[in-house]
Amino acid sequence: MSTSQAAFELDGSKSYPMIVNSAEHTRLNAQSSGFNEMMLGRISLAPLQKPARILDVGCGTGMQTRLLAELYPDATVIGVDPNPVPDVQTKPKNAEFILGQIEDVVNGQHELLLQPASFDLIYGRALYLWVKNWRAHIAMLSGLLRPGGWLEFQEFNAYRAYDADERVISDNWRFSVVFKRDGEERGFNTEIADELPDLCRQMGFEAVLATPYPLPFRSDWTARPETARIGKCFQWEVPVFLRMLSERAAQPEQGEDPEEVYEEAMDRLVRGPVGTHFRFTVTIARKPA
Ligand SMILES: C[S@@+](CC[C@H](N)C(=O)[O-])C[C@H]1O[C@@H](n2cnc3c(N)ncnc32)[C@H](O)[C@@H]1O
Repeated sequence: MSTSQAAFELDGSKSYPMIVNSAEHTRLNAQSSGFNEMMLGRISLAPLQKPARILDVGCGTGMQTRLLAELYPDATVIGVDPNPVPDVQTKPKNAEFILGQIEDVVNGQHELLLQPASFDLIYGRALYLWVKNWRAHIAMLSGLLRPGGWLEFQEFNAYRAYDADERVISDNWRFSVVFKRDGEERGFNTEIADELPDLCRQMGFEAVLATPYPLPFRSDWTARPETARIGKCFQWEVPVFLRMLSERAAQPEQGEDPEEVYEEAMDRLVRGPVGTHFRFTVTIARKPA
């Protein structure tokens, strides 16, 4: 673990707790590479044929935007994020970045506007810490999709853990209850990764498919070698999140000691048995033609 890796910062008093700086960009790039390897090198699961326009919502460092642009060299790939994307000089010719919040860019409160019904794919990864109303978010994105275009969400449930045999093991874990309560008090849907397939169906999307991937906390799960990189990444980043969450969410007056909550989480997850994992789910859904 290098010092620069451990140096990303959180602000537990904020609704979106990430402080976006170069250390956060290092963390996001490491995490994205880990997710990509976990997905066996597949960037997107949407079955696209000759896409012309792709949107990457909440693109962060723009890593996935660039990879999508390389995967589909004939498409224009647009990344949108309210924080500046680093290293824009190295972007492929067919990638563009818009600095702004997606809702402002879509609703005309921004100098640039995205054309309605023009995208073949709208892609978003790891957005559950800022999207609060997923139904409204999907409705907004649906307006940007052409008929027959695809939505793709890549999200994980950070409140439910499984063992190596896919049994849920976190139902009675005290820190899970504490962290879930904290997320819900902040207005997040803590189960959204698992609920997106049904929500897309309810909203009229077709061909909805959910593909789950295991997301472990250590790099030595030999039965799932494709998870080694993301496991290594989680070994250094998860303790920082657990510390912040324990201090923010534990209520000492309810008998919840932050240090005990933190140690319990570390013992169960980071120091837990090989194969303990969250679930990362890729949901794809097609807008009716
Ligand atoms: C956890 S990061 C994920 C970044 C990237 N998708 C990835 O997988 O590396 C969440 C991103 O959402 C961005 N974000 C926050 N609010 C947003 C909004 N209203 N519209 C678009 N992006 C937003 C943040 O700036 C951040 O870059």
